[in-house]
Amino acid sequence: MFIGINLENCSSIMWTRACTKLAANLLINGILVCEAGCILENLSSFLENEGFIMPLDLGAKGSCQIGGNVSTNAGGLRFIRYGSLHGTILGIEAVLANGTVLDMLGTLRKDNTGYDLKHLFIGSEGTLGIVTKVSILTPPKLASTNIAFLACKDFISCQKLLLGAKRALGEVLSAFEFMDSHSMDLVLSHLDGVRSPLPASLYNFYILIETTGSDESHDKMKLEAFLLQSMEEGLILDGVIAQDMNQSASFWRVREGISEASVKLGAVYKYDLSLPINDLYGIVEEMRTRLGKAAIVIGYGHLGDGNLHLNIMTTRYDSDILAQMEPFVYEWTAKHKGSISAEHGLGLMKADKIHYSKPPETVHLMGNIKKLLDPSGILNPYKVLPQSSLLDH
Ligand code: LAC
Ligand code: ZN
Repeated sequence: MFIGINLENCSSIMWTRACTKLAANLLINGILVCEAGCILENLSSFLENEGFIMPLDLGAKGSCQIGGNVSTNAGGLRFIRYGSLHGTILGIEAVLANGTVLDMLGTLRKDNTGYDLKHLFIGSEGTLGIVTKVSILTPPKLASTNIAFLACKDFISCQKLLLGAKRALGEVLSAFEFMDSHSMDLVLSHLDGVRSPLPASLYNFYILIETTGSDESHDKMKLEAFLLQSMEEGLILDGVIAQDMNQSASFWRVREGISEASVKLGAVYKYDLSLPINDLYGIVEEMRTRLGKAAIVIGYGHLGDGNLHLNIMTTRYDSDILAQMEPFVYEWTAKHKGSISAEHGLGLMKADKIHYSKPPETVHLMGNIKKLLDPSGILNPYKVLPQSSLLDH
């Protein structure tokens, strides 16, 4: 794949071979334009050489493609800092069901000329059109990154720590991830070579905090002062700051490995919930009580974004166990004013559950938009919307 760079103060256009598929890419002033098939990690490496980073990072970066990231509105690990792709994607090219190519590949920060149609394609999971190119606003790569791995005794301490981190770390906070001890145990027992930065099985919750800023000593001082204060307040029981890049990578490996470890036990039921933060861990405890010894229940995720990953592992898929989980999880989420998909989307399995998070009028309008853009239903059929919303009424 060919990548073209045209920096604002540089009139020449330079061509570099950097990705694996053929495409033209353009980097203007931190704005990356690329084809949908670019692998996220390749884009990250390319940008880092140019002094920028992708506003998006996730465990699957080595295989996922940016077109898929945009189509599913992927969230990931930097969301707390750089926000949703609805904010960072400046433009897209999409192909409609009738073959029309929609050129919405703008590179402007601001363009208020009527309906901003690109947003229809971000997160619609390929049901309205196929994203073929994207332009993305990429933040500058900053000089200093610090990572701390911490232990908390209970979930309320995790919440207070998050509030404290937002206040004390302010603009340098770039990730705030959490995992319970069950997630930690799972990773340590099922992934080779993963080591816990802190004694495992000793604490109930673990938090990974990352800061990214422009001044090493200032950022580190801020983080250390915050951690000291939080320890004095009893919010943190133990903690360690990564001393080099290898340690940073090993801290992240624990957090990013949870999803991979979840599939090692036989069957896994995955829920990706958005919840008010004070209610976020309640569903994990309820499911643990409900299922008893029949399952291993873990809770982890992007606490800074109010996004819980609830994974339930059993030795095999079983409809009786499923009946104990669903619709309970969805009803609980709706009752607590959450969303049944924070970042993974609805796909095939959750299309029929959309009503737990969207009112009927909204689903009806979504169905009409789908019928307008894809009257024959050829684009990613059966995904996102229940079939009933596509009937004529
Ligand atoms: C994660 C994936 C599962 O956060 O979204 O690890
Ligand atoms: Zn996630």
